[in-house]
Amino acid sequence: MSKLSFLTLVASLALLARPAAALPTNAHFDPTKFAKPCSPCHQGHGAPGTPRLTGGTRDFCLKCHESASRSAPRKAFLGLGAAANPQDIRTEFTKPVTHSRATCFECHSAHAPRVIVAAGFQAVSPKRSFRFEADLCLSCHGSRGAQGADPHDLSKLFVATNPSFHPVLAGGHGTSLPSLRSPYSAASLMNCTDCHTNDDPSGPRGPHGSRVLRLLGRNYALTDGQVETAATYALCYGCHDRDSILSDASFSAHRKHVVDERASCATCHNPHGATSSRALVRFNEPVPTSGVTASSSGRLEFVSSAPGRGTCFLTCHGKNHDPLTYGGGAAPMARPRPAPAVPSGSQRVAPPRAAPVQGRPEPVRPPDLPKQ
Ligand code: HEC
Ligand code: HEC
Ligand code: HEC
Ligand code: HEC
Ligand code: HEC
Ligand code: HEC
Ligand code: HEC
Repeated sequence: MSKLSFLTLVASLALLARPAAALPTNAHFDPTKFAKPCSPCHQGHGAPGTPRLTGGTRDFCLKCHESASRSAPRKAFLGLGAAANPQDIRTEFTKPVTHSRATCFECHSAHAPRVIVAAGFQAVSPKRSFRFEADLCLSCHGSRGAQGADPHDLSKLFVATNPSFHPVLAGGHGTSLPSLRSPYSAASLMNCTDCHTNDDPSGPRGPHGSRVLRLLGRNYALTDGQVETAATYALCYGCHDRDSILSDASFSAHRKHVVDERASCATCHNPHGATSSRALVRFNEPVPTSGVTASSSGRLEFVSSAPGRGTCFLTCHGKNHDPLTYGGGAAPMARPRPAPAVPSGSQRVAPPRAAPVQGRPEPVRPPDLPKQ
């Protein structure tokens, strides 16, 4: 490590007599959890190339963040206080779907303060070089990221100029959403981790591992042929009222397709955004979903300019729609419900969002550890 950062660390350690309240709110600085401050993580000369960390970066975090049965007997050795109960992340990485190719350090800064936001607001990035969590995710899953060559350039799907998108980067475009459940409203924002997170609600939060395909936090059948139950599409029903969907409050043939024909929501909807359709309908995508092909006249398209009516050109499991129109010339069928209550002012902890630019410095940076 460089001489400058070595001196910085020595100076920081010397300043530790300062009251704990001066340090950022992060469990790693909580004196009831760490019997001794700093030294469980920084000591001696440290591992090469690190700010005197007590281990190399590969498994550094997991020596504490593993099952209680393994970490508890070693608490004193790990420098932990009696109240400490580090979340078990090691077990998350043994599930069928994991983020095993991304490292803890790529998504976390060990000193970043923890900010938990209410549902409907944007989550703050756990890594300091990004402002919001979505900026972090899209740094790898968007056009500019390591996964950018991927045909699913995810950042493209969420931009505000699209006709429809889940409100991760921008919000407030929805006009008719009879199914939306409280506390969500058409003005809400949401996060990648509202959908991609631990499938065990009592386990540690975050996109570390899940038993559900695509690292989803709740069950979601991606293929046709499944019997519709509250569990089959639990992910969507968490925010979109099942009774509303199945009573055809918006699309007049939801029940026919989902219950009678056993079509998955995923056959018709892209969960992220749609670059050329209303209501997240995905038929206009370059790669159609399985079971769906062009109609007898060669068209594969959803045409709709207003809620409650639309026209489909496609063949689904052999059924030709060339075209099939719902809502007809009649008045739009969607009856928007009154907007659900917006969370009270005290819950508005997330700062308003600016244009999604990666890598810019954090505007509201919390108090830093003492430098020099
Ligand atoms: C849970 C482990 C942990 C604890 C506890 C901890 N650090 Fe760190 N620290 C790290 C890691 C990991 C890094 C490397 C950068 C990163 O991931 O944020 C780091 C980086 C640093 C740096 C380099 C500059 C920077 O901010 O990146 C300094 C200085 C530092 N720590 C000082 C301290 C001091 C002083 C304390 C005690 C108040 C402390 N650390 C407690 C894990 C810890
Ligand atoms: C020396 C043990 C130790 C190490 C090493 C360690 N942690 Fe922790 N971590 C803890 C403890 C203890 C807690 C608090 C858990 C509790 O009791 O609520 C914690 C909490 C956290 C939290 C929740 C923060 C909060 O304020 O609620 C995050 C995120 C976290 N750790 C990430 C990391 C990452 C990333 C690393 C590696 C850079 C790491 N930890 C390394 C012991 C450790
Ligand atoms: C450092 C790069 C990186 C970052 C940052 C990152 N990911 Fe990933 N992600 C990956 C890689 C690589 C994979 C492939 C699976 C693996 O890790 O083995 C992946 C896999 C996934 C998958 C599973 C895809 C599948 O086909 O099953 C989802 C979902 C996902 N990431 C969501 C997220 C979310 C949400 C965030 C932000 C909280 C995020 N990612 C941040 C690199 C990253
Ligand atoms: C965490 C809550 C949440 C979950 C989970 C969720 N949605 Fe949404 N959904 C919303 C919100 C909020 C909006 C309103 C968007 C707006 O108005 O900006 C929305 C809007 C929509 C729209 C209308 C988009 C438009 O532009 O007209 C569709 C279609 C939709 N969701 C389908 C789904 C499906 C399918 C799933 C399951 C894969 C799902 N949603 C899961 C919160 C959620
Ligand atoms: C056969 C295709 C199809 C299937 C399958 C389907 N949808 Fe839709 N959905 C649509 C269409 C078309 C619309 C647009 C209706 C309109 O014109 O406003 C829509 C609208 C929506 C909306 C926005 C309006 C509202 O009701 O709030 C939501 C949310 C939604 N669907 C959720 C779901 C969920 C959840 C499932 C699975 C349980 C599902 N859809 C299955 C075609 C489908
Ligand atoms: C409303 C829920 C929802 C939100 C919000 C959401 N996803 Fe997804 N995501 C899904 C579902 C469902 C799938 C399964 C694939 C499908 O139906 O296309 C998926 C698939 C993925 C995949 C794997 C396949 C692909 O399309 O590349 C990645 C990676 C991913 N999501 C990352 C993200 C990132 C990053 C964000 C935030 C910028 C995000 N997701 C936001 C529900 C969501
Ligand atoms: C792909 C990005 C990503 C990777 C890789 C990742 N994390 Fe996380 N982690 C997150 C996000 C995002 C959250 C916050 C989720 C939330 O607040 O809902 C989180 C939350 C946590 C928490 C707090 C859990 C809680 O319930 O309070 C701990 C502890 C943690 N991570 C440790 C780790 C450790 C240790 C590793 C490496 C083994 C790791 N993470 C790898 C993105 C990641």
